[in-house]
Amino acid sequence: MEVIEKIKEMQERAEKLRLSGETIAFVPTMGFFHEGHLELMRVGRKAGSKLVISIFVNPIQFGPSEDFERYPRDMEGDLQKAKEVGVDIVFMPSVDEMYPEGFQTKVAVRDLTQHLCGLSRPGHFDGVTTVVSKLFNIVKPHVAIFGQKDYQQLTVISRMVMDLNMDIKIIGVPTVREPDGLAMSSRNTYLGKEERESALCLVKSLELAQNLLDTGEDNPMMIKERIEELIREYPYTEIDYVSVCDPDTLDELESISDRALVALAVRVGSARLIDNRIITKKEKRGE
Ligand code: PAJ
Repeated sequence: MEVIEKIKEMQERAEKLRLSGETIAFVPTMGFFHEGHLELMRVGRKAGSKLVISIFVNPIQFGPSEDFERYPRDMEGDLQKAKEVGVDIVFMPSVDEMYPEGFQTKVAVRDLTQHLCGLSRPGHFDGVTTVVSKLFNIVKPHVAIFGQKDYQQLTVISRMVMDLNMDIKIIGVPTVREPDGLAMSSRNTYLGKEERESALCLVKSLELAQNLLDTGEDNPMMIKERIEELIREYPYTEIDYVSVCDPDTLDELESISDRALVALAVRVGSARLIDNRIITKKEKRGE
């Protein structure tokens, strides 16, 4: 496995691979790998003939009062895991390499970012689309893999790729969960023992939403209310948002005709956790 820290070197390596007929699959990450990241890499392994991943904790997607400084890092562990999954190249630039003095360009997706996490984390998605554009120009992938756990991120990046005619296929991978249902996240490491139990309120909320729809409750306001009630029963939690929205536009729904995205962000102790699920009416599931 090769480790590359310089942009120029990565670009030259990618160009060579392309010229020799290889298909580059790419998984961008911020490191501190768990099974979710590794699953993306396994999908990437099959999607291309060469698998490139990046590890870069991107400062411009964190707000001033967010966790950039304390975001968990484990370079040695990550490299070991990447090797075991069969990664060919790890691109691991420094902050100065990515954002040298004078850097002043921003890539922004307009409407899709005015919902959900875009409202509670202003500027976050501009940071994501800017760094992902840079990474695409550096790694030159044919295909890039993202997790559905960050549903809005996947939607925003797919839109950016479409709007800017980037010749890259985007693959979304279903959320990988702990045995009890908690979505895997690098931020789960912030949870103390009791907070870890409270963190289950996210997946329980999503199950509740599907159960409600199954029993005929298709009013998004009622579903949101029931979810908020449920979350309030769990200690150490504070709701950031609960949304029942259109899975494509992310606009809040006033009624559910066949399916809806239920997305939530909840603070549990010092961790801000997100999860989502598409709920579907029974008669539309083809059962
Ligand atoms: P990071 O949080 O490290 O996530 C890297 C990729 O792993 C993302 O595509 C994310 O959706 C996916 N992922 C995380 N947890 C997952 C889970 N439980 N199941 C499936 N996939 C999961 O997302 C980022 O980094 C950054 O915003 C990045 C795209 C790298 C830009 O900086």
